[in-house]
Amino acid sequence: MKTITVSASKKYDILIGDGLLDDAGPAIRCAAGGNAAGIVSDDNVYALYGERLNITLAENGYRVADYVFPHGEQNKNTETFVSIINFLADERIGRSDIVVALGGGVAGDLAGFAAACYMRGVRFVQIPTTLLAAVDSSVGGKTAVNAAAGKNLAGAFYQPELVLCDTSLLSTLTAEIFADGCAEVIKYGVIFDRELFDSLETPINDRLEDIISKCVAIKRDIVAEDEFENGRRKLLNFGHTVGHALESLSGYTIPHGRAVASGMAVVTRAAAAMGICDTGCVTELTRMLRLYGLPDDAPYAAGNIARACLSDKKRDGSFLTMVFPAAIGECVLKDIPVDELEAVIRSGSGE
Ligand SMILES: NC(=O)c1ccc[n+]([C@@H]2O[C@H](COP(=O)([O-])OP(=O)(O)OC[C@H]3O[C@@H](n4cnc5c(N)ncnc54)[C@H](O)[C@@H]3O)[C@@H](O)[C@H]2O)c1
Repeated sequence: MKTITVSASKKYDILIGDGLLDDAGPAIRCAAGGNAAGIVSDDNVYALYGERLNITLAENGYRVADYVFPHGEQNKNTETFVSIINFLADERIGRSDIVVALGGGVAGDLAGFAAACYMRGVRFVQIPTTLLAAVDSSVGGKTAVNAAAGKNLAGAFYQPELVLCDTSLLSTLTAEIFADGCAEVIKYGVIFDRELFDSLETPINDRLEDIISKCVAIKRDIVAEDEFENGRRKLLNFGHTVGHALESLSGYTIPHGRAVASGMAVVTRAAAAMGICDTGCVTELTRMLRLYGLPDDAPYAAGNIARACLSDKKRDGSFLTMVFPAAIGECVLKDIPVDELEAVIRSGSGE
């Protein structure tokens, strides 16, 4: 097992290892305390792992209440958020009790935002069950739900007390959902770490603890330096402005990881067209995306993508801050004037 400590506005540990779920109770009691635990999970994950989490929490003195919502990004919305708040109140979860997110990024973002808001903040714990949640969404304290006007528009920076990542839980992921997480792993390689990127030539399934630890360590360093995304943390949004637009345009039927993969490919081709990187960078990225069965194109017209991008949070007045690779392992931030955005996306989408 590896332990990585995040030093942000709150200091907390991320435990990464095989078989941690059945001993989650003592670790959660030690890190978060409380008398009652509200578990938030989706129906798929709860059916697989809910009972085991209930048992270890009950054995460690928690009164446990379960909130189970239908899986899918479509349910990461304000209605589910309000329903979780009412559930916590109905179950008499108090200010000193805890919320536990058991699931992928959707459960984590929903539970984290509910924990941030319920009674002005109760402690919470993340148990990520997808590769994407393990390497990215469970770490760093971003929580949010989608609104009709756009993705993640209501949210908070709210750090957990503990992240417990049991790598054995990832064995039940479908190949497609596993690949969504690979998109975020590839993202870390392109932004910060050429060596990590090159290592992805070899399949990662049998070295998950190592790969997850590498990604989490990168994110820990970024969060310690820029918790509230005023500068360097923005680099982690590589592929996300276009990616969020694709998710939103598809009515959230394109999964986050695949949307980010398309977004990274579009932005990298645009970077080559603008002379920020060379075409070799495009070739390397698209080859890697294909190796993991991920898309490298965007299924919408550049004009539609640009309009959807403009509801993204990264817009600042008449500019949109976007992340472009200068090389594999090095990305830069660039302010794109809003009226040039469509042309930039067109140059990257090969329209
Ligand atoms: N907060 C952040 O910093 C951050 C970062 C990146 C992404 N996100 C968010 O994360 C979300 C995407 O996360 P995701 O890809 O994990 O989606 P998800 O939570 O919807 O999980 C994907 C699917 O996998 C199923 N599943 C989860 N764990 C499983 C397991 N162990 N075995 C079998 N099935 C399992 C789920 O039921 C779901 O159907 C998006 O909403 C995105 O915006 C947040």
